Amino acid sequence: MTTNGGKAISVEQLIGSADSYIAGGVVSLNRKVDPAITFVRALGSKLYNLAGTEYVDYHAAFSPHLLGHNHPQVNAAVIDAMARNESLMGAGTTPWEVTLAKLLCEAVNSLQRVQITNTGSEATAHAIRLARAYTGRDDIILMLGGYNGWHNDVCRTVMPTVDQVGSRVSPGEYPVLPLSAGIPKDALAHLHIVNFNDAASVEYVMRAHPIACVLVEPVLQNIGMVLPQPGYLARLRELCDQYEAVLVFDEVKTGFRTALGGYQSVCGVTPDLSVFGKAVANGYPMGVIGGCERIMGLFHDADPTRKTLIAGTYNAHPVSCAAAIATLELLRDHGEDIYGQLDGLTARLTAGVTDIFSQRGIPAITPRNGSAYCTYFCDHAPVDWHDILAHHDFDLDRRYRRALIERGIYQFPLPCKQGSVSAAHSDEDIDRTLEVTAGVVAEL
Ligand SMILES: Cc1ncc(COP(=O)(O)O)c(C=O)c1O
Repeated sequence: MTTNGGKAISVEQLIGSADSYIAGGVVSLNRKVDPAITFVRALGSKLYNLAGTEYVDYHAAFSPHLLGHNHPQVNAAVIDAMARNESLMGAGTTPWEVTLAKLLCEAVNSLQRVQITNTGSEATAHAIRLARAYTGRDDIILMLGGYNGWHNDVCRTVMPTVDQVGSRVSPGEYPVLPLSAGIPKDALAHLHIVNFNDAASVEYVMRAHPIACVLVEPVLQNIGMVLPQPGYLARLRELCDQYEAVLVFDEVKTGFRTALGGYQSVCGVTPDLSVFGKAVANGYPMGVIGGCERIMGLFHDADPTRKTLIAGTYNAHPVSCAAAIATLELLRDHGEDIYGQLDGLTARLTAGVTDIFSQRGIPAITPRNGSAYCTYFCDHAPVDWHDILAHHDFDLDRRYRRALIERGIYQFPLPCKQGSVSAAHSDEDIDRTLEVTAGVVAEL
């Protein structure tokens, strides 16, 4: 129970009321969770539900909150922007978009030019359109177990069953299983789905079809934490060069969370285009598309048959820009401390969790990429979705997450969802989490 405008309301009342007005009862149906929950406040590493119960947050709203919720400097920058009467002008270049674009280009080596959107989905849509305009080809390669947004060109089932997708084929491709009704068959006909870490299948598809782009998350973080095998991303680079396709890194999850230079600065592979979102504005809405001038230049090509549209009433909104500028400046000026802290905390968390399971004799592994991680109940770090399907204990994962939530540790209650540590987490948060985890695992 809590009060809302003086009236006490319960979770049940709120959810009942939501169903009367919101199609599906929750905005963005990916947020529908069991057990149902209503958070009303968040600060630093903590979430608070309607009843005021505190949770240590490892969901981070699907991972944007790299610095923690309501970071004081990020919020102050937003408040300052409003106090200066910055507004959405909708005409001409604004100082804040120039400041932000410069920070982005200075942070990530492959960014010669950028454009700014409101979401990661918009940015991946623009990347695909640019790649098609640049190559004059329609087909694209996507990864099984990848997620790149909700629009028609990428909207395939992220976590299909083996019955749906079929057994592993390499080299080969998988059926395109739309994640939504309402997608024209023609759109699906241009998608080719291959397994992550399977460059042979990328080459197989490239030999058979003219490919506009390979759109790949450099680490698959929408099915937990599937890291690229040594040489895999470099091989994708070679294949894109050989077959004249555009290599697009979807760094919506990895960018800025892994490092200021993105995952590309860690793996040493340079994509033609990159897409960012989430951590770039620490929880405020933003997407970024950027890359080499020869492709980004299509946005203003003098030839109308090549000119590629980018537009959006709210693109580079001053509130989001202020948040992103403050976030990137903090990461630029204090990156060593921030990334050091994130790394130390997450290493301690994942090592502690590994110890707890190993003491109980439960096969479990917790691969991580910086401050992002996922526990799989199997004896090795999975290399692709088929590996997870074949070896991960989904039921145990579900029970584990639910038990953690019951004791105040918020992991998204769906198997194989990535966890995120923020720079606002403390050693005490990790201690508390490990203590709860030990108790939960003892009873699993
Ligand atoms: C890797 C990746 N790309 C793209 C998107 C889409 O971003 P948005 O939800 O901001 O549209 C997501 C969202 O989770 C994502 O994880």
